[in-house]
Amino acid sequence: MHHFNYRNGQLFAEDAAVVAIAEAVGTPVYIYSAATLTRHYQVFARAVGAPKHRVFYAMKANSNQAVLGTLARLGAGADTVSEGEIRRALAAGIPADRIVFSGVGKSAEELAFAVDTGIYQVNIETESELDLLSAIAHARGKRQSAVIRVNPDVGAGGHAKITTGSSANKFGVSFDEASRIYARAANMPGVKMLGLATHIGSLIMDLGDLEAAFIRMRDLTLRLRGEGLTVERLDLGGGLGIPYEIPETFEHGPDLIEAYAAMIERTLGSLDVEHGFEPGRLIAGNAGILVTKVLQVNPRAHTTFLIVDAAMNDLIRPAMYEAYHEIWSVRQATASAPRKTYDVAGPVCESGDTFATARPLPETHIGDLLAFMTAGAYGATMSSTYNTRLLVPEVLVNGAEFAIVRPRTTFNDLIGLDRVPRWLR
Ligand code: LLP
Repeated sequence: MHHFNYRNGQLFAEDAAVVAIAEAVGTPVYIYSAATLTRHYQVFARAVGAPKHRVFYAMKANSNQAVLGTLARLGAGADTVSEGEIRRALAAGIPADRIVFSGVGKSAEELAFAVDTGIYQVNIETESELDLLSAIAHARGKRQSAVIRVNPDVGAGGHAKITTGSSANKFGVSFDEASRIYARAANMPGVKMLGLATHIGSLIMDLGDLEAAFIRMRDLTLRLRGEGLTVERLDLGGGLGIPYEIPETFEHGPDLIEAYAAMIERTLGSLDVEHGFEPGRLIAGNAGILVTKVLQVNPRAHTTFLIVDAAMNDLIRPAMYEAYHEIWSVRQATASAPRKTYDVAGPVCESGDTFATARPLPETHIGDLLAFMTAGAYGATMSSTYNTRLLVPEVLVNGAEFAIVRPRTTFNDLIGLDRVPRWLR
């Protein structure tokens, strides 16, 4: 379910006409729907039993403070992976006691910042990180709440580049090592070892993979408890997928969420532990679109290229993961309008800057606006300034109202960051 629909032949974001936003802000532009973010968060939180269990929105998916602020008001916490994300979450009004810090390579400075901030939990990924965290917290007279991320050797997800739970991946301590490290951690002065974490991949549509991982977590929990150790938290990560190809029928999503919640109850319900969840894509994916303008129509022998003003630096998912994004015309085509097959590409100087190949679309002309759907997650957060292109502005819609929540950067912002060394002046 999302709130991007046609009305009177025009695409609307909630009650705001996309064309009006594009006119006011220019293109390309990311447009987010507050109602969609809210709905996704609420459906998920209710299904998994918040607030007893905790939802830490994986802010790497979309970390705009307006998005975080919308979710913070609903009670969301944040799953963070850098000092920058912790600072951003705090700035957006997510309190420290709702922040978890994950990530396979945390620096001493970042761990110290997390301890000083008093965050809810550090997810430890290696034994050396455990030693470092304990030393840092102990030196400050503190004990940092922590869980150990275990690699259950169940890889899953929509693409090899986003699979994390296989033993071939860099994430988490191995299953065999987990008991020994956990027992050591339980006696360390600077950590309060509370449980386990896992996250096996992203864009997972098959609950069987998650279930296999969670069964391993359950078995490990029972083993640790059998050794007299305390396990009171299980952070189950994120990764639940959303359908990119059929956003109109997103009602599939809530069904998947219900089935996910039931599977968790079935596999872990008897343990009496607090569950933590780190959904990212599920909350933000369908809550955002990237609107772009057609710059050129270039008919070639085998296809017609639509060259648009958005590029791979603005939305890298197609180039990086061969990801599919639906493309909708902002002005709705009539049922009888001719359809043609297009390759849709950006202006960046490499062939990888292609959003879609052989895509049937209503006949499209220079100046038309197109929307890449399901661009709310891993869109703006993965953007760059490659080709010295300005970062795309972000707009949040709330009913008929909209606000620019990140303006387009200026050339001065961008070029002015360089410093010319003395010998070139
Ligand atoms: N927790 C941890 C520890 C993670 O590494 C991730 C995502 C999440 C939670 C959230 O996963 P989600 O619920 O969003 O699937 N850039 C890629 C996705 C990378 C995911 C990285 N980790 C893409 O555009 O598909």
